[in-house]
Amino acid sequence: MTTLKEYLDTTGCEQTLKDLIELIAKQAGPIRDAFISNQKYTDTENVYGETQIALDKWSDAHLLKVLEKSGLVKELASEEQPEIVELNGAKAGYAVTMDPLDGSSLVQVNLAVGTIIGIYDGKAMQEGRNMLAAMYMLYGPMTTLTVTVKEGVHIFALNDKGEYMMMEKDIQIPEGKIYASGALKKDWLPKHKEFIEYLEGEGYKLRYSGSFVADVHQLLKYGGIFSYPAFAGHENGKLRLLFEANPLGFIITQAGGRISDGSQDILTITPEKLDHRVPIYIGSKGAVEKMEEMFK
Ligand code: AHG
Ligand code: MN
Ligand code: MN
Repeated sequence: MTTLKEYLDTTGCEQTLKDLIELIAKQAGPIRDAFISNQKYTDTENVYGETQIALDKWSDAHLLKVLEKSGLVKELASEEQPEIVELNGAKAGYAVTMDPLDGSSLVQVNLAVGTIIGIYDGKAMQEGRNMLAAMYMLYGPMTTLTVTVKEGVHIFALNDKGEYMMMEKDIQIPEGKIYASGALKKDWLPKHKEFIEYLEGEGYKLRYSGSFVADVHQLLKYGGIFSYPAFAGHENGKLRLLFEANPLGFIITQAGGRISDGSQDILTITPEKLDHRVPIYIGSKGAVEKMEEMFK
C-alpha cells in the first residue's frame, strides 16, 4: 500500500509543497484528540455571526500555530479570523485558506466533520482555479484525507500508526442519484425549487447531514449533486467562496465533476472580500449542467 509520502514523491510538486501537505494532514491526529474536551459553545461569534464552539477556535489556533512555525506559509486566511494573517519570515511563499472545522454543529452529536484547505502561490484572495493543491481531512468512523495536486484525486486513510495509506487512487465522480439542498424549503427561490422537484422526479435520493465536507465527500463515490442555494433575503446563499466552495470545487472538478453558482463556474470568480459568500451547486458534471440549463 502506498503512503501519502510515497505518493507525493511520485508527483511533480516542489518539496516545500509536499512538506506543507504532509504537515497539514498530520494535524488530523491532534484535532481529533481535541474533540472530547472542546464540545461546548463559547460566548464568541465569528464574522458570519455564528456562535463558535470551542473546537472551532481550538482547531483554528492549532493550525495557525503549526503553520506559523513551519515557515512555509506567508498568508493564512481562516474562516474563523476576520482578516488575513500575514506570517513573517516564511522561507516559502504559500498562501493557505482554511475552514478549520466544517460542520461544527455536528460535533456534539458525533456525526462526520472535517477540515478544508486550499493552497495557493503568493496570495489567498485569488480565483479558485489558480490553486496549487486542495485537500480535506474528514473525521468520520475513519479519518481520511482527500487530496489533489492537479494530478488526480486520491483518498488516504489514517491508520493506528499515524500514517496515511492510499485507499482510492484517481477517483472519478460518477453520475449518481444522491441530492442535498441547504436552506429552509419555504425560502427556496422558484428556479431552485423547480430543479429539486426535477431531481426528485428522476429518483434522486435525499442525503443532507449539515456538514458540507461530508455531504460532498459521499458524492465522489456515489455521484449526484449538493446545493446550498441563494434563498429569500440571501441572494449569495450561506457558504463561503474561499474556505468552502473553492477547495471542494477544485477537488470535485479534478475528479471530473463541476461546481457552479447557478450560471458560472465558481472557480473563475474573483473573490471580492474574505467573507465572500456564494450559492453552490457541486457534484456530477451532468447534474450541474442540467441545473445550469434549467436556470437559463
Ligand atoms: P461551519 O461548521 O464551518 O460553520 O460550516 C457549516 C456549513 C456547512 O458545513 C453546511 O453545509 C451548512 O453550514 C449547514 O447549514 P444549515 O445548518 O443551514 O443546514
Ligand atoms: Mn464550514
Ligand atoms: Mn468552520
